[in-house]
Amino acid sequence: MDKRGLIRKALEAQKKAYAPYSNFRVGAALLTDDGNIYTGCNIEIASYSATLCAERTAIFKAVSEGHRNIKAIAIVGDSNYTYPCGVCRQVIREFGKGTIIIVANSEEDYREYRLDELLPHSFGPEDLYKNK
Ligand code: THU
Repeated sequence: MDKRGLIRKALEAQKKAYAPYSNFRVGAALLTDDGNIYTGCNIEIASYSATLCAERTAIFKAVSEGHRNIKAIAIVGDSNYTYPCGVCRQVIREFGKGTIIIVANSEEDYREYRLDELLPHSFGPEDLYKNK
């Protein structure tokens, strides 16, 4: 997997962030199991709760195009290592139990995790059908 390439795409996506309220810009780029890349930025809405994170923008783009398995996602933001919020961790969980999450400051400076490290003991689709 070309991690640096994925980070580069996330950095490009970050430039498209629409964040007039927080001024906190986030970009994400994900790789699907069949080799496609989707990018996203955060999109803020004047009625704040309608705001969408960069990660979910990218994931919803991928899923709406028929790609449901996320192999890896790179995230860049305006803080030193911008980690995905709790809601986005749960959305990543839906489409990739083994997803690699790359939290990057630059192409050279990044940290890498498996989803279960950032969201341990998670609840997911299979749990809905597991009876006691
Ligand atoms: N944000 C993201 O896009 N992803 C994250 O993982 C953290 C937060 C956005 C949401 C909002 O537009 C801004 O950052 C400040 O919270």
